[in-house]
Amino acid sequence: MQVARPNRMRMAILPIMALEFSLFALACSNSASPAVRAASAGVSGGISPSQKKGLIHQGKLLFDQTPKEAPDYVGNKLSCSDCHLRSGTEAHAAPMTDLAGAFPQFSKRAGHIISLQDRIQECFVRSEAGHPLPANGPQMTAMVAYIDSLSKDPSKSKSYPGRGLIKLPTLIGNPTRGKAVYVSQCAACHGMDGGGDPPILPALWGRDSYNDGAGMNKPAKMAAFVLYTMPENHPGLLTAQQAYDVSAYVHTMPRPKFNQAYARY
Ligand code: HEC
Ligand code: HEC
Repeated sequence: MQVARPNRMRMAILPIMALEFSLFALACSNSASPAVRAASAGVSGGISPSQKKGLIHQGKLLFDQTPKEAPDYVGNKLSCSDCHLRSGTEAHAAPMTDLAGAFPQFSKRAGHIISLQDRIQECFVRSEAGHPLPANGPQMTAMVAYIDSLSKDPSKSKSYPGRGLIKLPTLIGNPTRGKAVYVSQCAACHGMDGGGDPPILPALWGRDSYNDGAGMNKPAKMAAFVLYTMPENHPGLLTAQQAYDVSAYVHTMPRPKFNQAYARY
């Protein structure tokens, strides 16, 4: 199964979308999410458009350069945008587009209702191999403001066709075949030792990578991500079987352990 990705076209469209989003954010300062409203409760008359623009900018920086901007809460060298591509706007790479209104929602993993803040924490303690970002702190407020800015109406749940990852048939990956795929299609960027060259080329295993409690640690999730987005310079090259194989190979390698103290996330 080959999945074509109209890469060049999207690259041309994205800057326009980003501009639209920021213009929209400026125009709609009344539709701030509950978190942003709470954070600005001390400011009489609510949050001004320029304060809101600043928050969104700060949140995008946190999203794109997470280890640098939130060093106390990140245990590896991955940024959110290493998996949520193009600052969380790429369809089928678990995008943040129109996501805010989908929370609160029931989480099967947690077994209870979670907020968007809880979901962000989940990626901090698993994908970032770190610690929960304080739920009411300025960094969380900024991240939520950025994610809100990617929704037309953050208060309304909207189905989005590019939500999550692509759907794949369930196949069994073969790590021996996967090693051959890795060497020929991945190692040039992610390294023979899987360590990559952070922050530009992210690690796929070892201490700079996500931990064994992360969503990407599930071979089927990685296969879906990889088939649609990788190799980064030639997406659409692999078959579904090769994506499963390379994912099986990557998951024979060591990585950080999930800290059970954070099992509630
Ligand atoms: C190692 C890769 C990786 C990193 C790094 C990562 N995430 Fe995720 N994230 C995932 C995967 C995989 C999913 C689940 C996608 C699915 O199953 O549809 C996910 C899901 C999410 C969701 C829910 C999306 C949805 O459709 O419900 C949010 C919100 C989120 N991540 C935020 C973040 C934030 C914020 C950061 C940075 C602090 C981050 N993630 C870092 C891999 C990652
Ligand atoms: C041309 C360089 C390049 C090649 C080749 C490449 N990648 Fe990537 N990969 C990247 C970059 C850069 C990112 C970060 C996201 C982005 O900027 O697009 C990334 C992100 C990832 C991620 C999510 C982040 C992480 O570290 O877990 C996975 C998983 C991944 N690549 C797997 C693969 C696999 C498997 C292959 C081979 C089939 C591959 N990549 C080939 C450059 C590459």
